[in-house]
Amino acid sequence: MSGSLGDVQGSLAALYENLQTLVLLLFTDPTQLSYGQAFVLVGVSVLLVATVVWTFFGRQNGTMVFINAVLRTFGTGQTKTGAGFTPGKVYVYGPPSVKAIPSLFPFSMKLETYLRMADIPYQPVHVWSTQGPKVCAYTSCNGKIPWIEYNGEAMGDSGLILEFLNKEKDVDLNQSLSEADKAVSRAFTKMVEESTYWGLVQSRYMDNYGKLHDLFELPWTVMFLVRSVGQREIRQMMRGHGIGRHSKEEIEGIMEKDLKAISSFLGAKPYLMGDEPTEVDAAVFGQLSEIVWTAPDSYLHRIVTVDYPNLLVYCNRIKDRYWSDWDQLTKKSKKDK
Ligand SMILES: *[C@@H]1O[C@H](CO)[C@@H](O)[C@H](O)[C@H]1NC(C)=O
Repeated sequence: MSGSLGDVQGSLAALYENLQTLVLLLFTDPTQLSYGQAFVLVGVSVLLVATVVWTFFGRQNGTMVFINAVLRTFGTGQTKTGAGFTPGKVYVYGPPSVKAIPSLFPFSMKLETYLRMADIPYQPVHVWSTQGPKVCAYTSCNGKIPWIEYNGEAMGDSGLILEFLNKEKDVDLNQSLSEADKAVSRAFTKMVEESTYWGLVQSRYMDNYGKLHDLFELPWTVMFLVRSVGQREIRQMMRGHGIGRHSKEEIEGIMEKDLKAISSFLGAKPYLMGDEPTEVDAAVFGQLSEIVWTAPDSYLHRIVTVDYPNLLVYCNRIKDRYWSDWDQLTKKSKKDK
């Protein structure tokens, strides 16, 4: 994979050099240009313009494919599919850690926390893309972050991954729970993932857009693309979901009630369902950790740390117990190099 990527980059560099010569010629002595060369110049210009137009005004899917292609080219992605994976090992794909948190994606935090709770060894594979290798793009993967590879098979969606691994690894973090407790767990899982999650999306990608560059630690060029395309896409997603049809104040009210519900139910218990963590804690921590550690100036952060501080204590408890390598992971981020 990296070999062919190197080849591509090599030939791109050569192409770039040739183009440079041509452009120079165009401005110094255009009569020297052959018809063939002029044709190449026109062709490249058309391609460039088309790419820009397509990116900023084109269809939604096309733009995401483009962003993913850019991110994949600049990312240090490697895929294990077809290339010497260890049987039985879980490879977790997602963007690299940043200074603020091991993963900026709440569902990655959930998955990795679950893997740690269940004591399932895994290897993170860092790619800046939602698109998996071919096998993933065309079969079980659905363009979600994170996705995993297991015995050469790719799979997306943290919920489905957890179900799969529970069976495969014979894990049941809910075994101490009654049926009624399981029902409550299910309800909380769905609330944080289908409702509270969107508060983070709104706050991170809409209200505090200016802070994204620092948060994601990406080059400005990429941020520019993500901004112009990504924000529109997110707005559409939020409208499709329904939350985006509310005013900002209404959304904040919903989030306040969600977080209050978690806080009230948690009370003074160490974990949501009692003395020991269960699967729902991975899901809730996945979402809350993003609020605690990536959204310092947001109203969400105020709710979690000031209004309902047992949520902050709860997050720290899970972080201390399962993420002893937190500092090590986040220190490795680009910012500190
Ligand atoms: C544990 O509970 C969660 C809901 O919090 C549920 O989604 C999951 O399927 C349950 N896992 C098992 C192994 O029963």
